[in-house]
Amino acid sequence: MKALYRLYAGILRRQLAGLPMPQHVAIAMDGNRRWARGAGYDDVRIGHRFGAEHLELFLQWCSEAGIRCVTAWVASADNMRRRDSAEVDYLMHLTETVLADHVRRDHNWRLHVAGQLDLLPDSTARALKEAVEETRYRSGAGELTIAIGYSGRGEVLDAVRELLDEAAASGRSAAEVAGALTEDDIRRHLYLPDLPDPELVIRTSGELRMSDFLLWQTARSEIAFCDVYWPAFREIDLLRALRTYGRRQLERSS
Ligand code: IPE
Ligand code: MG
Repeated sequence: MKALYRLYAGILRRQLAGLPMPQHVAIAMDGNRRWARGAGYDDVRIGHRFGAEHLELFLQWCSEAGIRCVTAWVASADNMRRRDSAEVDYLMHLTETVLADHVRRDHNWRLHVAGQLDLLPDSTARALKEAVEETRYRSGAGELTIAIGYSGRGEVLDAVRELLDEAAASGRSAAEVAGALTEDDIRRHLYLPDLPDPELVIRTSGELRMSDFLLWQTARSEIAFCDVYWPAFREIDLLRALRTYGRRQLERSS
């Protein structure tokens, strides 16, 4: 089975050669709890642990495929507000330990954080900020963004708020701001304005929704919906999504 899998991965890699590749891939890692239940665990936190550890492999596959920019959706603002506190506490614990530890050790990535950090416990926000600082000057590294306490509408709202505050501070009237407003003005106030938009978004677990993920940045993205639960996501699932993306780009440009 393993040999067959390796053979198939090799075929997919060869098919990818010469196809257009996304620069930035965003991943909505969904299905941790269903995976845990399906694997016979009563405690769904086990799914979250496997899920958090799985990101390390995904990042390695991305590096090997030449993808230098990844956004991983760890928890939405809604997850933080609506899930029971023991589950959220555990997710934050995993973020501080498994996730932050990994980016410290793995010199292939510079860390960025997108989201409403005030929704996070202080210790989680601190651990992430420290990891961002520690990885900031890594030369030759790719860009990894952790979306946590994240809401796409919230991000656009925050951007508009900041833009209006800036305009008020500089003494411009609302009419002046409105008359000159461009998409780029909004972009400049997003959490990470310097990153390219993701050309490809992957969502696992068979859910066919965007759920407020990267609302502004995905206006022109390809979306790959993949049936497997996140902890079971394989390299061949990534390679297939990249192949579909590449073929569609070719068709669009022909
Ligand atoms: C994704 O898995 C991780 C988070 C959203 C924190 P879920 O926790 O959404 O698991 P399912 O979708 O209920 O199986
Ligand atoms: Mg889910």
